[in-house]
Amino acid sequence: MRDAVGGVQSVLVLGGTSEIALATVRRMVDQGCRTVLLAARNPDDCLAAAAAVREAGATTVDTLAFDALDTASHGTVIDEAFTRHGDLDVVLLAFGVLGDQAEFEADPAKAVAAVQVNYVGAVSAGLHVARNLRRQGHGTLVVLSSVAGERVRKTNFVYGSSKAGLDGFAQGLGDSLVGTGASVLVVRPGFVHTRMTEGMEPAPLSTTPEVVAEAVTDGLAKGQAVVWAPAPLRLVMSGLRHLPRPLWRKASERG
Ligand SMILES: NC(=O)c1ccc[n+]([C@@H]2O[C@H](COP(=O)([O-])OP(=O)(O)OC[C@H]3O[C@@H](n4cnc5c(N)ncnc54)[C@H](OP(=O)(O)O)[C@@H]3O)[C@@H](O)[C@H]2O)c1
Repeated sequence: MRDAVGGVQSVLVLGGTSEIALATVRRMVDQGCRTVLLAARNPDDCLAAAAAVREAGATTVDTLAFDALDTASHGTVIDEAFTRHGDLDVVLLAFGVLGDQAEFEADPAKAVAAVQVNYVGAVSAGLHVARNLRRQGHGTLVVLSSVAGERVRKTNFVYGSSKAGLDGFAQGLGDSLVGTGASVLVVRPGFVHTRMTEGMEPAPLSTTPEVVAEAVTDGLAKGQAVVWAPAPLRLVMSGLRHLPRPLWRKASERG
């Protein structure tokens, strides 16, 4: 349960090695969060981050196995995380794959696998999280969507469309939870410097995991439903989404 001033006390991360997620967890721990559960395909990959958050002041730190593609296991894994620690204030849905558009077009099976992680896996995990949040009567599911889903570009339309689906799912889920005490925060980062974007040419307004982390913790504190990182992207995208299609095609030529 959040503390008297609304501070997050506990967080479960699905995608526990994500650089954006770990920056967010570090910020939450600095602000007083004491329980951190990191779930990843290989929980051993979370051990260094787990030690670091313990060092930073978290008192209950755990790692668990979670694979977005193994949707049959999601109910058990997520229920176990909630029952093992009683109560969770925040679940951060951070897993995702960017992939390569040219490879997707050459081998559609690769596109299917990426969409299964980014969209199908997220729908499955998100619904299991929502069931638990509804039951406990509080808590926020934070979903890492993307600006790429706000208006899909021809140069990464498989990833972009998976994020568009995810964003719509997260908004609808948030609306369905109104009145239950539970909520959803949709996070729309632009280009973030992490291993996901390593070697790529930064897009305008590129940012860092720490800026996304700040947008998440501020959004949680204010009870917002959607945040952008960096914030000016909201204004930029509100213009770009209405650009006539030929102009959008031209403007979205970069990868
Ligand atoms: N970086 C950006 O520019 C950017 C912009 C907008 C939105 N986002 C979104 O933000 C989220 C985090 O991205 P990031 O930048 O922090 O990248 P990252 O460090 O590469 O994190 C991606 C995470 O997804 C996990 N993952 C991939 N496939 C998985 C699967 N089948 N099951 C479970 N976990 C899986 C990875 O785990 P492993 O360690 O097991 O691979 C890793 O924890 C993603 O959803 C991404 O789409 C990123």
